[in-house]
Amino acid sequence: MTGLFITLEGPEGAGKSTNREYLAERLRGHGIDVVLTREPGGTPLAERIRELLLAPSDEAMDADTELLLVFAARAQHLAGVIRPALARGAVVLCDRFTDATYAYQGGGRGLSVERIGALEHFVQGDLRPDLTLVFDLPVEIGLSRAAARGRLDRFEQEGRGFFEAVRSTYLDRAAAARERYRLVDAALPLDQVQASLDTLLPDLLKLLAERQHG
Ligand code: TMP
Repeated sequence: MTGLFITLEGPEGAGKSTNREYLAERLRGHGIDVVLTREPGGTPLAERIRELLLAPSDEAMDADTELLLVFAARAQHLAGVIRPALARGAVVLCDRFTDATYAYQGGGRGLSVERIGALEHFVQGDLRPDLTLVFDLPVEIGLSRAAARGRLDRFEQEGRGFFEAVRSTYLDRAAAARERYRLVDAALPLDQVQASLDTLLPDLLKLLAERQHG
């Protein structure tokens, strides 16, 4: 694998998409092949699974069903987009990945780390992100930003306790493996958030060059 796999995590309304675009432009400015993608989704079939996951429904979705759908979409996305892009040396910037599963299905729904870890190994083998940016935001700010966007999806309809658990799972994971995670204070003004992303670039460019030229 000669590319770099970077994931962006955090709650709704934390500016992941805007900052993903920003980082992509900075990398492209250095002539780098950048692939922007997201989960759940990223391929036509995985986007259909996303619709199943996000659509509010009268029938409550069992937590294990939710977990399996998330990983089904991920398997498709890995096969169709992520692995081929990494193999050709691209930088993949993915809006959410398996940390979201630990945060939402683990923290939020209460599924065990062991159960999620077993599926992570089954679907991904050894593949893990090289870097995960965690956009951290107080829960009430994220909720009000999501509400301002209009109709709430099945996850956004969850209560405050769910999102507190999501947030603390992200923070715990970032604290437990500092070499892989970078915590970003998403409550700061955008220019300050982007200045902090700029500081990552030299290391990313160096790592990519090492991978590509041996
Ligand atoms: P978003 O990408 O528009 O934020 O919406 C995706 C939703 O899916 C979000 O609420 C988080 C949720 N999700 C999970 O519950 N588990 C996962 O593994 C992923 C990738 C997303």
